[in-house]
Amino acid sequence: MDEQHVMNEQLEKQNSAKFICTANHGFAPYAQEELRRLFGSVKSTMLLPGEVFVVTLATTVQETVECINEKAPIFLRHIFPVLMEIPGDDAGQAIRQAVTYLLKREELEGSRVSVQVRKVEGSSWTESLGLLRDQLQEKLTPLEADFTVQNPEWIISLFAAKKTWYLGISRPEQNLSDWNGGAVRFQREEGQISRAKFKLLEAEKQFDIPFDTFRNALDIGAAPGGWSSFLLERGLQVTAVDPAKMHDSLRNHPNLRIVQKNASEVKFKDAQFDLLVCDMSWSPKQMAKLVTNLLYSLAPGGTAVITVKLLTKKPMALVHEIIDIFEQSRMQIQGAKQLFHNRDEITLYMIKY
Ligand SMILES: C[S@@+](CC[C@H](N)C(=O)[O-])C[C@H]1O[C@@H](n2cnc3c(N)ncnc32)[C@H](O)[C@@H]1O
Repeated sequence: MDEQHVMNEQLEKQNSAKFICTANHGFAPYAQEELRRLFGSVKSTMLLPGEVFVVTLATTVQETVECINEKAPIFLRHIFPVLMEIPGDDAGQAIRQAVTYLLKREELEGSRVSVQVRKVEGSSWTESLGLLRDQLQEKLTPLEADFTVQNPEWIISLFAAKKTWYLGISRPEQNLSDWNGGAVRFQREEGQISRAKFKLLEAEKQFDIPFDTFRNALDIGAAPGGWSSFLLERGLQVTAVDPAKMHDSLRNHPNLRIVQKNASEVKFKDAQFDLLVCDMSWSPKQMAKLVTNLLYSLAPGGTAVITVKLLTKKPMALVHEIIDIFEQSRMQIQGAKQLFHNRDEITLYMIKY
């Protein structure tokens, strides 16, 4: 075993852990704050302003991952444990060092492995990321690994910053997300009404929401209809409320009732719906008031999925204020997360009791 390898084996066992952490653009300071709340003082350095930072914690990798998974942070989207730091001034040299290290990792031999690479502007790798990934995979051929994007057993992560390249090997569940940097990508479909649909698709995956088990949904702030179309595809009856016009392709759908009104002017039967979704892009407190006024129409045990716009310099305080409002209205929070497709919002997943 060479010196570098011995050093890295020690790094994995020692009582401190280094992670590359990613949040939505502009929200890294809040992800840092979440880590401070979980682990006390943490040493961290920004690698991509507002988005990606490296953090050192006085716990082991396993303890850190368990704690983060249990506490489910809102703004921290993706992490990977750093096993090796490589001088980054010469890309060719850095790749050679990374490959030498990886070829010695027995757990990768014959396994399903995903190689996820990212870089900052100004890193010594000037070609495309696809090419970097391909080069790594080619040089790792002796491992006889099955290089895959879907359902890997192991993820090799490489973040090429300006001075240093950070390398990690982890199980998907250690990264908070098995997507590269937590950037969940969906294929845009032909005739797709809005990009907003991706938010609901991502929420479904993130929170494991069984949309096709619901029957009757209320969609508040529904136009132009991305979320409604998603729910219709899952076989639900949908009532769409919005003063704006729904997309023409939805206008005669047999399972869709369009109520072209402000949500403050509508009335429904008690417990009429088993799902309530709201994506209003509006003042969060007004939205919370409007939605809580309509909660009588959601049956006990019903589910709500709501986006909260963070138009404030204090998003943490705002999120807690909104969560409090819903908790006081018999809603139990199942999940709160800034999804990749949320940009400057978060998504709340709640159940009525
Ligand atoms: C971001 S868009 C919703 C996109 C939609 N989820 C989709 O998938 O296509 C926000 C919508 O909320 C609607 N909205 C804002 N305030 C509203 C209110 N008080 N009542 C009903 N709809 C409202 C707007 O008219 C707008 O169409």
